[in-house]
Amino acid sequence: MGCCGLIRLPWSTKTVYTSASVVAAALGVTRPIGVHSARSGEPMLRKPACPASRQATMETYLLDWANLLLRWLHVIVAIAWIGSSFYFVFLDSSLTPPQDEALKKDGVSGELWAVHGGGFYHPVKFNVSPPKLPEHLHWFYWESYSTWLSGFALFLVSYLWSPSVYLIDPNVMDWSPAAAITAALAFLVVFWFLYDAICRTLGQRENGDAQVGLLVLLLVCVASYAATQLFAGRAAFLLVGAMLATAMSANVFFWIIPGQRKVVAALKAGQPVDPIHGKRGKQRSVHNTYFTLPVLFAMLSNHYSFAYSHAYNWVVLIAIMFAGAAIRQFFVMRHGWKLGRNTHPWPYAAVGVMVLLALIVWMKPVPQAPVAVPDQVSMAQVQQIMEQRCVLCHGEALASKNVRLDTPMAIRQHAQTVYQQTVVTRQMPMNNATGITEEERALVAQWFRQGASLD
Ligand code: HEC
Repeated sequence: MGCCGLIRLPWSTKTVYTSASVVAAALGVTRPIGVHSARSGEPMLRKPACPASRQATMETYLLDWANLLLRWLHVIVAIAWIGSSFYFVFLDSSLTPPQDEALKKDGVSGELWAVHGGGFYHPVKFNVSPPKLPEHLHWFYWESYSTWLSGFALFLVSYLWSPSVYLIDPNVMDWSPAAAITAALAFLVVFWFLYDAICRTLGQRENGDAQVGLLVLLLVCVASYAATQLFAGRAAFLLVGAMLATAMSANVFFWIIPGQRKVVAALKAGQPVDPIHGKRGKQRSVHNTYFTLPVLFAMLSNHYSFAYSHAYNWVVLIAIMFAGAAIRQFFVMRHGWKLGRNTHPWPYAAVGVMVLLALIVWMKPVPQAPVAVPDQVSMAQVQQIMEQRCVLCHGEALASKNVRLDTPMAIRQHAQTVYQQTVVTRQMPMNNATGITEEERALVAQWFRQGASLD
């Protein structure tokens, strides 16, 4: 028996990699560690405490910190990015022709008066470019880049670091961690290339926007379906979100900012400015607006197992993202409606809400045949279930989320969340990697309801 490496589940012959072993596994270096638990009824083989298990605990601890700090950062910078992006969409659609003659003469095409935080603001927009560039020009890109970088780092310390826990569901696709990681990364890259090719070839044509919109919608649907056929539901939803978010940041990095740089360079050189850069940038920026709500849903969805573990989870994903885009359209058009430029966009919101309501009805759980459970369920019974189905990821060697379920005291200490995770949200065992049965879930439920006692 070695110390750390991969763990084989005896009842399923599936290999679950502890996070420490992933790098080794990817390199083909696999060292088996002790058998963690045994077939139903057989006694557990306890692994002796060894330095490597302390190392694994330390690794989980540090990964948890990385996860917490990166998530914190990611949410903060994402708020800054989405916030400024929403603001500029609002600004652009709320501009009115300037009143002042001097502004008109300078080539101002729109202005806005606003009051905020005790001050009055008067932003103006120049048609193509101002007559003279100011010394200091503020650029908006770090919000986007830092959102992508922190998001990718977060994806790395969870999904890519422990692919067997997060990325792979053997019931969906039983493949090696290295293959799953490669496919996940390919998802982000391939989508960008296809999306970019669509925008480039059709974007500037007549009716180009509509054609691009339709094709991108189709592409997102195909990608969503493919993701759910390859990855664990939770990972599939997140990956589709990451894929769209990558395209959003790539839009900023490859098109919007370079286009702006060309405009600024032309202005500085006193050359005429080609309006194509502005048009292209605007097109990508509009796409980003419609990606926002779908991406945010996909990012949050991994806390909601009822959504990603549904039998038709790809339909759920596509429908909710579609509802998000429709609701965004409502908000974008409301600005124009306030200025009398278009009709009230309530039908968009109505469509979005109807889709969500339809999902609520369609996804409601079907009543299941009740599982017979004894009136009294003992701690010994529950402990046996934990040993078999949970300790693999919640024991001495690996304590996911710092939850250990390998002693009666520990099980009782976590009774509330164990009940939540196993019975209510059914999020645990993760991807049901350990094959818990309905009867076992019912036993845990009964034990909790009768007071989660130690006896
Ligand atoms: C294949 C590995 C694996 C198995 C098996 C597993 N878990 Fe987990 N568990 C995890 C991971 C990973 C997390 C952290 C989840 C996250 O980051 O959202 C976790 C988190 C938890 C949490 C904390 C949830 C929270 O957000 O506070 C509880 C409680 C839990 N698991 C209970 C169980 C129970 C009970 C079982 C057995 C019925 C079980 N787990 C089986 C991997 C597993």
